[in-house]
Amino acid sequence: MPVRIRLLLLCCLLSLAQSAAAAEEREVRNRIALGALAFADNCQQCHQLDGYGEAALYPSLRDPALLADGTRLIRTIIDGRTRHLQGDGDPERLMPSLAFLSNAEIAAIIAFISNSWGDDVVWLSEAEVAAARLDPR
Ligand code: HEC
Repeated sequence: MPVRIRLLLLCCLLSLAQSAAAAEEREVRNRIALGALAFADNCQQCHQLDGYGEAALYPSLRDPALLADGTRLIRTIIDGRTRHLQGDGDPERLMPSLAFLSNAEIAAIIAFISNSWGDDVVWLSEAEVAAARLDPR
């Protein structure tokens, strides 16, 4: 193959790879932006805008080990948190269940908080979130 054609092919391949990378970057940015909005609507009143929470009332989410554990994050958002008190009384609700959020919103919130305060973005598919809904603790 003549060198000129080879160069042309190489350029084509490079620009294809570049546009794929750009599309991927856009997808990451869009999801994190959706997650920021959903966090503001559903989490921020307790965990605060900066994720530090509020003293003893609401825990800080700035915990890289927690933010690397996608399954635990999904379950926490879907189930919320309760605490069993001694005796037979109803468990005390600490964090509401947010199971009304869509799979896309849950995946986006997890991408947003892990990107903001974790070591790495946790990238879950909507199917993984859907599967976790069917898999009670
Ligand atoms: C009404 C207040 C409230 C809201 C709203 C709320 N949380 Fe929580 N969250 C809490 C409390 C309180 C705890 C601690 C529960 C406990 O001690 O077990 C908690 C715990 C957590 C934990 C577990 C921390 C750990 O160490 O295991 C995560 C993760 C979390 N919340 C994320 C979220 C996300 C994401 C949202 C929004 C989708 C949200 N929370 C909305 C009050 C809230």
